[in-house]
Amino acid sequence: MSKNYYITTPIYYPSGKPHMGHAYSSIIADFFARFKRIQGKNVFFLTGTDEHGQKIQRAAENNKLDPLSFCNKISKTFLDLSKKLNLSNDDFIRTTEKRHSDSVTHLWNILEKNNQIYLSKYSGWYSVSDEAFYNDDEVETINNQKISKISGSSVEWVEEESYFFRLSQWQKPLLKFYSENKNFILPESRRNEVISFVESGLKDLSVSRKSFTWGIKVPSNKDHVIYVWLDALTNYLSALNYPNVDSANYKSFWPASLHLIGKDILRFHAVYWPAFLLAANIRPPLRIYGHGWILSGEKKMSKSKGNILDPLEIINKYGLDPLRYYLIKEVSFGNDGSISLEKLENCINSDLANNYGNLCQRVISFNEKNFNLKIPESHDFTEDDIYILDNYVKEFPNLIESVDNQNINNYLNFIQNQLFISNKYFNDQEPWKKKNDKKRLNTIIYVSLELIRKISIMLYPVIPESTLKVLKIYNINEKNIQFESLKEHNFLEPNQNLSKLSILFKKIETHD
Ligand code: MSP
Repeated sequence: MSKNYYITTPIYYPSGKPHMGHAYSSIIADFFARFKRIQGKNVFFLTGTDEHGQKIQRAAENNKLDPLSFCNKISKTFLDLSKKLNLSNDDFIRTTEKRHSDSVTHLWNILEKNNQIYLSKYSGWYSVSDEAFYNDDEVETINNQKISKISGSSVEWVEEESYFFRLSQWQKPLLKFYSENKNFILPESRRNEVISFVESGLKDLSVSRKSFTWGIKVPSNKDHVIYVWLDALTNYLSALNYPNVDSANYKSFWPASLHLIGKDILRFHAVYWPAFLLAANIRPPLRIYGHGWILSGEKKMSKSKGNILDPLEIINKYGLDPLRYYLIKEVSFGNDGSISLEKLENCINSDLANNYGNLCQRVISFNEKNFNLKIPESHDFTEDDIYILDNYVKEFPNLIESVDNQNINNYLNFIQNQLFISNKYFNDQEPWKKKNDKKRLNTIIYVSLELIRKISIMLYPVIPESTLKVLKIYNINEKNIQFESLKEHNFLEPNQNLSKLSILFKKIETHD
């Protein structure tokens, strides 16, 4: 098993300000990055913005700005959001950077040299909103408007000279690749979708445009700009210094461990991207995971539908960790999920304030009153103690496997159960009645503190800021959190001082 782990978010179009759908992709990716770090992996976590193409050029024109000034302005809002979301990304790439255009140009030249690209003419449908080409049978007419059946975006007829990538040649190799790498596309339903799409036949793909200029020029023919998806996908390589394949980052982190994306951009990542890479003799990434959408009502939240929820407003009102917890726990991962303030408030009140916050407060203030903020000495663990502590040991391999298979709901269910039984443990053991049995009292409090430590470590990738406050009372900081330490039941040093804990989550007054 490699010690290195490379995870990416999609790079976002800076065509308008970020919304909850973007925040969702980023928060989930951050969960995996943080989890892998505390598992001891050497992680590289990448996010950024996708700044070329007709969509951005038009958005800039509508805003009466030249494309680069427009991108500078909007890309900054994505960068700011990544900070506001407390993302632990190692890099933020912009496709207007030189390191990126050098990398794209290099890849293009290799594809050309490998006879994978030829000049011809494209005539067909194009959606600027999706930056995607569609066949006749993928387009329908609604209210006199031509619409893509796949995305619902409007399409326009395009006829122009274009370079083509020999995608048709890659049908068989791709099918072979999918069958040899069963977990390349997850979840399984999406894998099946992709396989039937590829089985139905692949046509060569138009990979350059001539009717606008905002993009990376085709090196051998400056009248053309490189198709924005070929440009954008290459960001995953350019951030690792490609074409410098001897660079430490490239050597350590390629092929990527996980490209986390929304299901709407699956075809680009699971079909075109591995085909481009195989055609250039570069290993494809190890996994593409297509998550579902955040819905607003019944519809995908998107700028063009005008139904967006602003993550910044929610964070300002409720705080970041509640939003992170809610998105990670409440949306069944892989499926669509609609979000509502009511559900968010319930989550804050029950899971965060009651179950986690309260457990921490009760145990620490009991300790403060009775042990003067010192960790008591543990004595013989009873069966009850061992049972509850051992849950973590028994489940340890499953927890790692769940996260490695992106089964985060399983991971969160485990945490929820442990919160429930840890609260129950504290209630049932009634330490307030054990003042005459010093040994037992010590042990109950030791075990309770130990449970809080374990749960906080497990929750760290979900709500880093709040769990770090809790772990700090034990003198554990971000750099020394180790998932492996869940297996230790005597991790805490007796007599060590604890520090006080301020309120973690304020309850929200809900209006019925
Ligand atoms: N620029 C391309 C990605 C290029 S990656 C080489 C793009 N950008 S996007 O800004 O439109 O979308 C970026 C990501 O946000 C996608 O994964 C998309 O699925 C996700 N989301 C956008 N709206 C969404 C929801 N309403 N819900 C969840 N995620 C969705 O596509």
